[in-house]
Amino acid sequence: MKAAKWILVFLFIFSQTSVLSAQILSTNPTIENRIESLIQQMTLDEKVGQLNQINGISDEIKLQVQQGKIGSILNIPGAKVTNEIQKIAVEESRLKIPLIIGLDVIHGYRTIFPIPLGEAAAWDPELAQKTAAMAAREARASGVHWTFAPMVDIARDPRWGRIAEGSGEDTYLGSVLARARVKGFQGNNLADPASVLACAKHYVAYGAAEGGRDYNTVDVSLKVLREVYLPPFKAAVDAGVGTIMSAFNDLNGIPASANSMTLTQILRNEWGFQGFVVSDWSSIGELVNHGIGATLAEVGKKALLAGVDMDMMGFAYTNNLANLVQQGQIDEKVIDEAVRRVLRLKFMLGLFDRPYVDPELEQTVILSQENLDLALESARKSIVLLKNEGQLLPLKKNLKSVAVIGPLADNNFDPLGCWFCQGQAKDVVTVLEGIKHKISSDKIQYIEGCKIQGNLSGNIDKAVAIAKNAEVAIVVVGESAWMSGEAYSRSSLDLPGHQSDLVKAIYETGVPTVVVLMNGRPLSIPWIAEKIPAILETWQLGVQSGNAIADVIFGDYNPGGKLPATFSRTVGQVPIYYNHKNTGRPAAAEKFTSKYMDIPIAPQFPFGFGLSYTKFQFSNLKVNTEKTGNMTQIFASIEIQNIGNRIGDEVVQLYVQDVVASLTRPVKELKRFQRITLQPNEKKLVNFQLDANELGFYNQNLEYVVEPGQFKIWIGPNSTEGLEGSFEILD
Ligand code: NOJ
Repeated sequence: MKAAKWILVFLFIFSQTSVLSAQILSTNPTIENRIESLIQQMTLDEKVGQLNQINGISDEIKLQVQQGKIGSILNIPGAKVTNEIQKIAVEESRLKIPLIIGLDVIHGYRTIFPIPLGEAAAWDPELAQKTAAMAAREARASGVHWTFAPMVDIARDPRWGRIAEGSGEDTYLGSVLARARVKGFQGNNLADPASVLACAKHYVAYGAAEGGRDYNTVDVSLKVLREVYLPPFKAAVDAGVGTIMSAFNDLNGIPASANSMTLTQILRNEWGFQGFVVSDWSSIGELVNHGIGATLAEVGKKALLAGVDMDMMGFAYTNNLANLVQQGQIDEKVIDEAVRRVLRLKFMLGLFDRPYVDPELEQTVILSQENLDLALESARKSIVLLKNEGQLLPLKKNLKSVAVIGPLADNNFDPLGCWFCQGQAKDVVTVLEGIKHKISSDKIQYIEGCKIQGNLSGNIDKAVAIAKNAEVAIVVVGESAWMSGEAYSRSSLDLPGHQSDLVKAIYETGVPTVVVLMNGRPLSIPWIAEKIPAILETWQLGVQSGNAIADVIFGDYNPGGKLPATFSRTVGQVPIYYNHKNTGRPAAAEKFTSKYMDIPIAPQFPFGFGLSYTKFQFSNLKVNTEKTGNMTQIFASIEIQNIGNRIGDEVVQLYVQDVVASLTRPVKELKRFQRITLQPNEKKLVNFQLDANELGFYNQNLEYVVEPGQFKIWIGPNSTEGLEGSFEILD
């Protein structure tokens, strides 16, 4: 027991305010004057118009733009079309207020990068910043000012299809990547022709949907909300994110799009968010289905007063807010404030001064060699080597015959993943094409084997015949692009269709078999994990899929990715995540302990796990603390040596546990990581520094506290291995 439980309460004052939030916070007087002068001139309908976001383009929409009834349009990318509609807004509407054009630029605009979950497996925030910046450059050149990204929802349930869009199960990794992506999208100045406004979504706890079913009810304690689901949003706000999207889900009885505690009390009052909040698509209108209002007018009022500034396709604001003001049910000042927030970002984006984009720029920026190079780098870094028995991988390029099998082997659509934006199948390099860049075509035999989904068993027999004649078989299986992402929740985590039969049949030929998985969520693959000697997790890697995968298969790149989410043995283990609590009866051999009778409690592959073609040795863990005044710093270092004979990357991960606390704490929590590259034999000292105030939690009064006492620390290659040490936080 800790002798004294001296409680430190930390008020989170932003330590690192980004350039953008500094810009918003310091409010540019010229911009503020221009906003006030516009507001003076605006009719109530024109004000409401600024809070109205509409999808697509039609004659009716053009008319409404001309009448000042629309502030934003989504889903109309392209320089030509955006210039055309912008012209109506800035030349034909009474007050000439430009539109802000939004789009889901989630993992690339035309140059498609790995899905965010895949990119999270790279554990490389610099890379995430670069790919976001590249996507921003392409999108802005095409007239898009605003992306509905990053998605920063923590997902502990892989049945939920939207796990593909975020950074996985961990709050710390998710927060680091949230910050990086916001910085990447927004750059240092929103008016820069290579920046877009970012939107952290879906606020909040959308990933905790019951049963992993999309849009479903969320009921989490306020403590879990604060410790698990809110921090990535806080990180995005600290990084200066300009907008936040309110989510679809019910949150403890008050839907997220009408929740004044999260939208106003926490987001604005506690965190000082200065941008604007947009609803998710019709999430305001859907408040009627949630049953917290009978009419669009009623729910529109609730959403606005809770803190949602812009209504995306809910038609609750446009038809009702003006009446509600006239009836005295809403103070016009609330609307003015929301309008100010929207106009402020339009000014900061430079839209009043430069409303149009240059169509020629669009052509030069999109899919440039520089972008494709970055897509290759990000795809390679996202690949995780799950198993490599007998060092089957990498394959030699002088193989005499290779069988390339599976519904995803020569597939140029599904590697685009969910939300592929303007990505096109013709831009994608398939695995088969990638392999053909490594060995000559006459040595390769390809067959699809079966479909991704469905009952038809396909031509597994023919695949077997081909495999029998080959020196090695590469079987590419997984999910289609349409099996993850919004509305694509699954009740099973197994390989769909007959793909498991295909893999088994190939394995049974006795030919050495490599399985390449391509999927948008962690899958359960117990048989494959046990029997197949070499397994690569490749997610959905975007346009450079095949090149990156072939680089790894043939050893031109040594994989270094690590899982950003736990892989279960079966869906029955879900939710399964590494930073769980201990229970009073942790799993043990004895009967009355917390476990399953039919399967081990451990996951198939733990969080943070991933192998390499080389070996790393961790040694010499050192931990000490330094106290200055009330501040305690923890310094930890470890030596890592590449003891194999290939250059390789290791992600050095630091976890802690608060051993005894006034409330139960997780068995481990990730607090730092660093991806490093080591030459054969090279040894590096990796240093980490932590502030004690990062080791706290929310107590029963929901105050953030750091309790003095003993902490365990591990530094290692994943969440289950590593050298262990300890330190103490003193009173
Ligand atoms: C609904 C999705 O939930 C959200 O993520 C997306 O940004 C909007 N649709 C707009 O497409």
